[in-house]
Amino acid sequence: MAAEGRIKEIIRRDRRIMITTTRQKYPLVVSHGEGEYVYDVEGNRFLDFSSFIAVYNFGVNARKEIRSAAKKQIDSMMHAAFYDYYAESPVRFAEKLVGMFPSGFGRVFFSNSGTEANEAALKFSKIFTKRPYVISFHNAFHGRTMGSLSLTYSLSVQREHFGPFDSALHAPYAYCYRCPLKKSEDDACCLAGIDHIRKNILSKEVGHGEVASIFIEPIQGEGGYIVPPAEFVKELRKLASENGILLVSDEVQAGYMRTGSFLALDNFGVEADIYTMAKAIGGGLPMGATVTRTSLGDIPPGAHANTFGGNLVSIAAAEASLDYVKRNYASLRKVSLSKGRMIMTRLLEMKERYEIIGDVRGIGMMIGIELVKDRKSKEYASKERDAVLYECFNKGLILLPAGPSSIRIIPPITISIANIKKGLDILEGAIKALPKRSR
Ligand SMILES: Cc1ncc(COP(=O)(O)O)c(C=O)c1O
Repeated sequence: MAAEGRIKEIIRRDRRIMITTTRQKYPLVVSHGEGEYVYDVEGNRFLDFSSFIAVYNFGVNARKEIRSAAKKQIDSMMHAAFYDYYAESPVRFAEKLVGMFPSGFGRVFFSNSGTEANEAALKFSKIFTKRPYVISFHNAFHGRTMGSLSLTYSLSVQREHFGPFDSALHAPYAYCYRCPLKKSEDDACCLAGIDHIRKNILSKEVGHGEVASIFIEPIQGEGGYIVPPAEFVKELRKLASENGILLVSDEVQAGYMRTGSFLALDNFGVEADIYTMAKAIGGGLPMGATVTRTSLGDIPPGAHANTFGGNLVSIAAAEASLDYVKRNYASLRKVSLSKGRMIMTRLLEMKERYEIIGDVRGIGMMIGIELVKDRKSKEYASKERDAVLYECFNKGLILLPAGPSSIRIIPPITISIANIKKGLDILEGAIKALPKRSR
């Protein structure tokens, strides 16, 4: 009998001991990586178009100076119980971080993940407004702990058995590609989601003045890489202000230069009242941050805290990463936009060639393509999407799914033009490899 390979062996052991989570359908068993490539435990090399779920925005395993900062900190002090004692570096990092926000944002809370950053925003918004309800959008993903999960509205498997989620209400997002009210491609946004909040939630479902906050992903991530029109976001801002509701921008996936701006909401010309970040902010180490308008005030001592928030090693990596962003802001913005345009152009050409590509959308280097069985019915081509991802993997390209049948294209912002072309060639090859009738 042939010896079992390392990949098979590790996956077999994993399946026996680990609680099942969300693993991809292709078997990537990571060994190490750098720059634009990751290697598996059998020495196979893959080009990364995933940034490991929008974390390695500047290259696999982060930049050298980020790693060095973390290593140095490990030898000095790792954990400082920052919510019980004081330490300088988290304060210094917070001071630098708010410098990336619009003026008036001066309060920071650190946690360890995106869901915790949103959990904090949810609790803070209730404390600040003394109101009980929160609103989020259909297809939203804000995390999986109970408060954030109440806002998540993407897949039933994520919510099944965990409810009821009494304080969260939901409204349609501006998913223009599938908007039932849109009569043509050029139709302006109908703002159905805003109307729903105004006419149903705030007029019938709950009492006037009972909603603390509305959470929005400036571009929906896990839900399918869905980009709302600017009018939608602007109207939402207006509605929130008119009703004393705090707008929370979940920047966990779309933020940190991914769309060419530090804050993805900036692309729509509006400001939120609370921002949440995670994923890329820690430079590869766990970190969440919740940033609020100073005018909202503070929370009572003991109302919220955690053990590891402000962890000195995560802070060291995050500070080195933010210093890199600050030093290179203009060029990172430029390349994110120009490489994003290049990717979009190629994907739109592919859309001309393959019926299965129903929609191409994105801002900067946060781009999604949605696969459909046919363009009229827009039936989700989920199996075909999975087959494309698998074929890409076999050809040495890592891509992630989003929503029922979309593919996200989120390479490190620093990826070379040659590797963008190479990755897109592999993607096109994988679409071509589908049976003729389905592409
Ligand atoms: C927009 C958004 N918010 C929150 C989260 C949750 O982040 P975490 O997995 O770090 O808890 C995610 C994760 O994918 C996300 O994309």
